[in-house]
Amino acid sequence: MQKIVIAIDGFSGCGKSSTAKALAKILGYTYIDSGAMYRAATLHFLNHKVNLENKEDVASSLETLKISFEFNPETGKQETFLNGQNVENEIRSLRVSDHVSEVSKIKEVREELVSQQQDLGKNKGVVMDGRDIGTVVFPDAELKVFMTADLTIRAKRRLKELQEKGQQVTLDEIVRNLAERDEMDSTRKESPLLMAKDAVELDTSHLEFDDQVNQIVSFAKDRI
Ligand code: C5P
Repeated sequence: MQKIVIAIDGFSGCGKSSTAKALAKILGYTYIDSGAMYRAATLHFLNHKVNLENKEDVASSLETLKISFEFNPETGKQETFLNGQNVENEIRSLRVSDHVSEVSKIKEVREELVSQQQDLGKNKGVVMDGRDIGTVVFPDAELKVFMTADLTIRAKRRLKELQEKGQQVTLDEIVRNLAERDEMDSTRKESPLLMAKDAVELDTSHLEFDDQVNQIVSFAKDRI
């Protein structure tokens, strides 16, 4: 059967990752979390106290940035590694979330990560989620989905997720973080968050998780 590329873009906290993961499992595809790559780059810059205004500092820090993904059979989940260290939990913290949009607007960071993402998807059979997957990373993707959901609903879902991981955060902090990231991601100069002209829009505010996954599976089957 022919393998395709599925690009899932949308606002922060819409459930793109969990949807993309479930979709990849059903189709036997590889799931790639491009946001985790921007988060890992952000953690790397924070750890090395990189001055984001200084292009040379950013460029030399990018040279020592190595991001990889490994499947953990104990948790049944794919985890993110930064220079050989498992950073899966740390990259989801509010500290990283509060800085990631500043890092992801830097042209040189995007060029490096987009090229790695294109390489990861070159053999097709991938589901990749992010902000510019259907517009920049894979403009020829056979299926593009643009996910949206009401801000408060998104924040409540994210609060539950973080509380389950034992992180101390409030609903207000999450609403502020999601709204700020949406604003920065949509208005930046480099690859702003935009719905591709040929994307299918999916509002998940009132959809059950299984229904949203099944809907995308049926879109995918139409294109395979
Ligand atoms: O998907 P997630 O919310 O983990 O992404 C974190 C941040 O990484 C986003 O708010 C955005 O600034 C950046 N990002 C991006 N382009 C992507 C994926 C994520 O700019 N393709």
